[in-house]
Amino acid sequence: MNKFAVLGCGVVGSGVVELFEKNKALIEKRCGKSLEMGYILDLRDFPDRPYGNLVVKSIDPILADPDVTVVAECMGGVEPAFTFVKACLEADKSVSTSNKELVAKKGDILLAAAKAHNVNFFFEASVGGAIPIIRPMHKCLAANDFSAVSGILNGTTNFILNKMICDNMDFDTALKLAQELGYAEKDPTADVEGHDACRKICILSSLAFGKHVYPDAVFTKGIREVDLTDVKLCSMLGYAIKLIAQVKKLENGKILPTVMPMAVQGDNLLSQVNGVFNAVMTDTDGADRSLFYGRGAGKFPTASAVLGDMIEQVQLDGTISAQTWEASDNADFIEDYAAFTAKRYFRTTAADAATLTEVLGTLGERTVSTEEGETVCIAETEMNAAQVDAAVKALAQKGVQVLAQYPILL
Ligand code: HSE
Repeated sequence: MNKFAVLGCGVVGSGVVELFEKNKALIEKRCGKSLEMGYILDLRDFPDRPYGNLVVKSIDPILADPDVTVVAECMGGVEPAFTFVKACLEADKSVSTSNKELVAKKGDILLAAAKAHNVNFFFEASVGGAIPIIRPMHKCLAANDFSAVSGILNGTTNFILNKMICDNMDFDTALKLAQELGYAEKDPTADVEGHDACRKICILSSLAFGKHVYPDAVFTKGIREVDLTDVKLCSMLGYAIKLIAQVKKLENGKILPTVMPMAVQGDNLLSQVNGVFNAVMTDTDGADRSLFYGRGAGKFPTASAVLGDMIEQVQLDGTISAQTWEASDNADFIEDYAAFTAKRYFRTTAADAATLTEVLGTLGERTVSTEEGETVCIAETEMNAAQVDAAVKALAQKGVQVLAQYPILL
């Protein structure tokens, strides 16, 4: 008999329980085997819910039950999730997690533990909510060499930016609404400062390039400083400001993962990804460009991905070799942010327009001024971080302050 346990009955965990109950018959048909919910681990009691009798307060009965073959970890955070997940894997139980912090910080250890016990550590739900991206990357695109993975990986910030663009809503009101809708993390700093997107691009980078990328190796900038003025000016110019998480493979063989607000050109489909939706774009040598799109957060979209992993596990026998990566004991394979190159958007006041174009020279080939007295110059030639710093300093020496600058995603 296959039984499963759910660790943590919060938003995602209760979604797993409820979606399983709703679709049990078709899930079992697709598994080809029966599947029963055995345990729910939570510190709280749920006396009024139909599954209240399954609640346990300790991991021990789950570990001791040989019928439990798969565990859904929906607790969030590193501890005690790491200890519990490792113990489950070492007890020959596969685990499916929605916990991106756990995968980004401890994925290498947990993947090794899964392999040692011929089970699986699954994490489809940890990136992009309902979007199938982990499995397509290690299965459908397994024949390809990746050159880049770019995405909108945080629903909360995308929702906030979208509210700013479309509804002229200020940042705090949009954040409050995202929290009310259950998209934001308990501590919204992780969303707003880009840490959540950083964890997700660490996971995709590790999977694409085979070595663990830790969050502290990733240049990360959130959206707190995004100004409504730039949001509006970008719209006028045909760009949308989005929090873009990206990893690129460079000519020197190193990879460069980044998270930062970028001005996304209107003909790039990522510029059209709105609200809580997420999208991931992969560039590979065989398949070329592919786009994966869907709901990046929320109770049932995330539960859908957790249950998808669990169904696969019930059908499987043994570790999936492609869904893994090695531990990394240094960050030598990661390029410094100084090497990041892109076309750029610069904003100054209209009074400084002439100086801005003079300093950017032939780089600045498109200048727009607004009635509000702002000037934007688009540097059409790619600039690296050092060139941007030099331009900002040269402008400062001429008394011109750069009010905002964004890299452009083509
Ligand atoms: N806080 C996350 C987001 C939840 O807004 O995308 C899903 O990981």
